[in-house]
Amino acid sequence: MSDAQVVAAAPRSQYVEFWNTTLVPKFVRWRHILVGGLTLHSERIFPSLQVNKGDNVVDAGCGFGDTAMELARLVGPTGSVLAMDCCDGFLDYGRRDARAAGVSNITFLEADVQTYPFQPVHDFCFSRFGTQFFENPVAGLRNMRVSLKPGGVMTMVVWRGIKDNPWLGHAKDVVLKFLPPPGENAQTCGPGPFSMADTGVVTKQLEIAGYKDIEFEQVDAQVFVGKDLDDAAGFQLAIGPAGEVYREAGKIAEQRHDEIANALKSELAKYQRSNGVMMDSSSWKVTARNPS
Ligand SMILES: C[S@@+](CC[C@H](N)C(=O)[O-])C[C@H]1O[C@@H](n2cnc3c(N)ncnc32)[C@H](O)[C@@H]1O
Repeated sequence: MSDAQVVAAAPRSQYVEFWNTTLVPKFVRWRHILVGGLTLHSERIFPSLQVNKGDNVVDAGCGFGDTAMELARLVGPTGSVLAMDCCDGFLDYGRRDARAAGVSNITFLEADVQTYPFQPVHDFCFSRFGTQFFENPVAGLRNMRVSLKPGGVMTMVVWRGIKDNPWLGHAKDVVLKFLPPPGENAQTCGPGPFSMADTGVVTKQLEIAGYKDIEFEQVDAQVFVGKDLDDAAGFQLAIGPAGEVYREAGKIAEQRHDEIANALKSELAKYQRSNGVMMDSSSWKVTARNPS
């Protein structure tokens, strides 16, 4: 039995289950914003990644695979990318895009990054907004380190706090004027988008996971959150902190949908530009090294 078959047979965690059943259909519906918007953020980061031609790299929690494609371009045909995600529903888009672009040095693999039996053969391990959702962040970060050769580099991009990310925070504030906050037993996709905002906590997690040379760099960028106000309001009610409030409120949210959507559109109108609705976002580019 291959490694991939062993991993596929392991039971899914509640978060991995939630990603597959609840979030994949929503992410697919709003893919144009997730891929288009987040690319505007990470294109600030890609030019400074410590990736060389011929490198073997991992993209952990790669989603639709657009960053894996970019990494494949950076390593060139003599290098390789292992693009891993716990949802085959995302990876299928990556497989299709890679095929269409004639890119053959990416392996798309459905697996849980926290437990996959990596071989220590990679020069670089990357994650854009994937590690924030690990059920056990230290286990996940340690396993990413295990994927690296001695001296290999890990870079993850994680959101700073909600106040630094109005593209997610403003909509939540609006929705909370109409709906209660999610309760203790809310279904979630993991610790959440802001779970790695605190540099002290993340430094400790990385140290326990065995990394050295830990560095944080603040990255600010405007992201695209919709073609127009209807698009942006629909996105906010489906995904992210506002989407969680809306989903958890169930029937009350559906009954009040129109007034909530109208309030959201009034708020988002301030951010409408000729190229769509554009809002501020802020992340940490976190870099750390596997000791030699
Ligand atoms: C916010 S999305 C980011 C996706 C992609 N990296 C991007 O920037 O567009 C988080 C991704 O992490 C994946 N993910 C969450 N927990 C995971 C785990 N334990 N193992 C593998 N993938 C995971 C999700 O399926 C999802 O695709």
